[in-house]
Amino acid sequence: MIVVMTKFPINPEHAKDFAERAKKEFGEKGLTGQEGFIKMNILEPKEFPPGNKNNVFIIETYWKDMESFRKYTESKAFEEAHKNPPPKEWFAGRPTVELYEVIKEK
Ligand code: HEM
Repeated sequence: MIVVMTKFPINPEHAKDFAERAKKEFGEKGLTGQEGFIKMNILEPKEFPPGNKNNVFIIETYWKDMESFRKYTESKAFEEAHKNPPPKEWFAGRPTVELYEVIKEK
């Protein structure tokens, strides 16, 4: 199983906007119907320990294997999800992508 973490550094004044948009729109453009798609989590950053600020939202997507993930990146659903990004000023930096293979699960 593959886990892909797409990380979004968001300006604190737009954290609420981003969270609302993510809850309403992410995963609604064909993602969940992709072959090999298992699940998506949207993670909202929380300050912990106190004073340790975090402004990075994460979308985790879980895939059966590399092939199903690769197909998703070439799909209409992927294209649709990236067509109309939020305003530039919502972002504190460019989104990044990290990919992992799950080697143990409990
Ligand atoms: C292989 C690389 C990438 C993966 C796997 C990925 C994954 C995702 C996923 C799963 C979503 C939510 C999709 C949905 O709504 O169904 C999303 C949305 C988004 N991605 Fe990516 N992404 C990638 C590359 C990028 C890059 C390079 C950027 C920007 C430079 C980017 C910017 C965004 C933005 C701004 C959204 C939110 C769109 C919206 O607000 O409607 N992504 N991405």
